[in-house]
Amino acid sequence: MMERTIEKTVKQFVTDDYRAAAVFEKYAIDFCCNGGKTLDEACRVNGVDPETVLLDLEDLRNDSGTEAFRPAEWDLDALADFIVNTHHRYVRRTLPVLVPHVEKVLSVHGQNHPELAGIAEHVYALATELTSHMQKEEMVLFPFIKAMVAAKTGQTQYNRPPFGSIRFPIAQMEAEHSSAGDSLSYLRTATQGYTPPADACTTFIITYRELAEFERDLHQHIHLENNILFPRAIALEQSF
Ligand SMILES: [Fe+2]
Ligand SMILES: [Fe+2]
Repeated sequence: MMERTIEKTVKQFVTDDYRAAAVFEKYAIDFCCNGGKTLDEACRVNGVDPETVLLDLEDLRNDSGTEAFRPAEWDLDALADFIVNTHHRYVRRTLPVLVPHVEKVLSVHGQNHPELAGIAEHVYALATELTSHMQKEEMVLFPFIKAMVAAKTGQTQYNRPPFGSIRFPIAQMEAEHSSAGDSLSYLRTATQGYTPPADACTTFIITYRELAEFERDLHQHIHLENNILFPRAIALEQSF
């Protein structure tokens, strides 16, 4: 039983039960860009005992008090809307607060904390890349996914996309997710897991807390796209 469970992929755990994301965050196990690894492999990469992680995952099953959130069971148009209304909105609301905080911390503490220069650089790059990335999803990819759903339910005619197959924009979005994921892991390492130094002022502490929250949100956002929305959209396209 145990052996079979650790052969299950990390992304499947999160797809089956969204709350598994928090368990993986705790052990810094990547469930979004590299979620295809089995639990056993992922634990080995991170030097974590798979049985410890399994115990935490078991606890979720016993905790029936939390309302189940099952995006894997939603219609794809609803899922695309949810991603835009929840995660894209979060990124757009957060960046105008986060970026000035990072700038301020760099200008005040940059001399004593040289790691802040690299941190700021990665945050700026992430902000620019994500802004254009979300625009592409909202202007090109998601409307096409919604058009496929409408065609499937007989509301409209199915038309082949101008870009040939949905696989192409999806491959591009996945590449951009990997790049964002790399920036997040850089930030996690450079900030020592978002732990502010002993001499940190309030803005410093708040900025690290905001960065940690930004990471958590982006992991869930990318998971919904890479592991649920995109594979199901590819399957839907093949059904025409
Ligand atoms: Fe997105
Ligand atoms: Fe995305």
